[in-house]
Amino acid sequence: MAHITTVNLSNDKWNETDAGLIAVGVFEDKSFTPMAEEINTASDGAFSQAVEIGDVKGKSGESHTFYLEGKRVLLLGLGKKDKYSAMSVRVAAGKASRSAIEKKVDTVAVECLCIDCKHCQAVGEGLVLGSYQFLDYKTKGKNNFELKSATVLGCTKEDITKGAAIANAVCLARDLGNHPGNVTTPSRLAEAAKEIADEGGMNLTVFDREEFTEMGMGGLAGVAQGTDEPPKFIVLEYMNGGDEKPKVIVGKGLTFDAGGISIKPAAKMDQMKYDMCGSAVVLGVFKALAMLKPALNVVGIVPSTENLVGAKAYKPGDILKGYNGKTIEVLNTDAEGRLILADGLSYASKHYDPEFILDFATLTGAVVVALGHIATGVMGTDEGLMEKVKTSSKSAGEKVWEFPLWPEFCKQVQSDIADVKNTGAPSQAGSIAGGAFLKEFVGDNIPWVHFDIAGMAWGVKPNSINPKGSATGWGVRLVLDMLDV
Ligand code: BES
Ligand code: MN
Ligand code: ZN
Repeated sequence: MAHITTVNLSNDKWNETDAGLIAVGVFEDKSFTPMAEEINTASDGAFSQAVEIGDVKGKSGESHTFYLEGKRVLLLGLGKKDKYSAMSVRVAAGKASRSAIEKKVDTVAVECLCIDCKHCQAVGEGLVLGSYQFLDYKTKGKNNFELKSATVLGCTKEDITKGAAIANAVCLARDLGNHPGNVTTPSRLAEAAKEIADEGGMNLTVFDREEFTEMGMGGLAGVAQGTDEPPKFIVLEYMNGGDEKPKVIVGKGLTFDAGGISIKPAAKMDQMKYDMCGSAVVLGVFKALAMLKPALNVVGIVPSTENLVGAKAYKPGDILKGYNGKTIEVLNTDAEGRLILADGLSYASKHYDPEFILDFATLTGAVVVALGHIATGVMGTDEGLMEKVKTSSKSAGEKVWEFPLWPEFCKQVQSDIADVKNTGAPSQAGSIAGGAFLKEFVGDNIPWVHFDIAGMAWGVKPNSINPKGSATGWGVRLVLDMLDV
């Protein structure tokens, strides 16, 4: 874990704080934030001069260092004032943390960079996300400089500490994703769930291979046949909302996807350690519930295994029976995510009376073709729920784009010899085929949205709140916004 876990609040003035770096802001229209204005006045217009000379343009992402009254002051570009949003705030606060690390300064103080305190939560999120690095395997130490603390000056809103808690949850999701397949195993996911359950007073149930096979989870059991690494079916229950119906979140916990007998090409196969990032969304969300303890009922479900080749591995043509009794013809063993999720969705539908179900999965390469590393593909059965997803997507700054689950697509996963098959029409609408398959395992009348996060869980363009070569934790913030945590 290399990131700060809390953000401090202080009423110190800029020249009173002992932080090694103080960050304030300037917009593209050359207007300063209140504390920048103060510093500018106290320093005979040091900032105005830099603006006049033309070095400081106020563009988003820009930063300039000044040395004033023995302090290191960072003037951050905040971009266009009329476009300033929660995302701009996150990115600017993240830049403050990131700059401190680059300068090997271990304490940073920032002005509350949200104008009129509209986006204080985003300040807390940005500071923590910007401090995130994945250093666990860097034994040399020389590049292992970590930020120790961040303080927000002149704002006392609890939203800041809430934002910090939420970002911690995102960092947990990133860590789980970044650790390789020999560390983030299904057992490790179950262990992480145990730590979270203990912290948050939650119920945890973990079914192992023998148990879930006996229970009839033929999808998970089928995929897990090819590995000796013990598979797990993990259920977390956070029940703090009285008798309201639970909201259920299901996540694909495929800790390494070699494709099975329908094996993947070698190039980039290493990236399939990230194939558990759906489960990381679930665990990240539960980490935040443990920390913030909102009055809600939420259930998290993670089917988890590897998908490997071996003498016992399941084969193309095999027919499996899912937990809801439907038979599945396996036409490609690499379309395994939907098989394990099928059991997760059926379990949620059978054992709870969910208000809604959301599932998160790095399900298809096709979604990367369609939307790149810009947005997650979403599809579902309920317009109202989809609207909520879109609203939270905007406030969390995590983009989604809806695909249609039209009957024509749903027909494409019907099998000639079983109830359904695990592939759709060859080379067509692959992400929708995934959604159409999953729909078969969601109970009638349960509002449900499927998130295909294959383009967003890693591989996005790095910025101040997303380091290069790291899992992103995409989705944690969106779900927490939806839950109104
Ligand atoms: N985990 C992969 C999806 C994936 C591939 C995510 C590449 C990110 C990058 C999933 O299990 C998979 O292999 N899907 C297949 C489905 C196909 C066989 C119908 C795919 O996308 O090729
Ligand atoms: Mn696969
Ligand atoms: Zn997969």
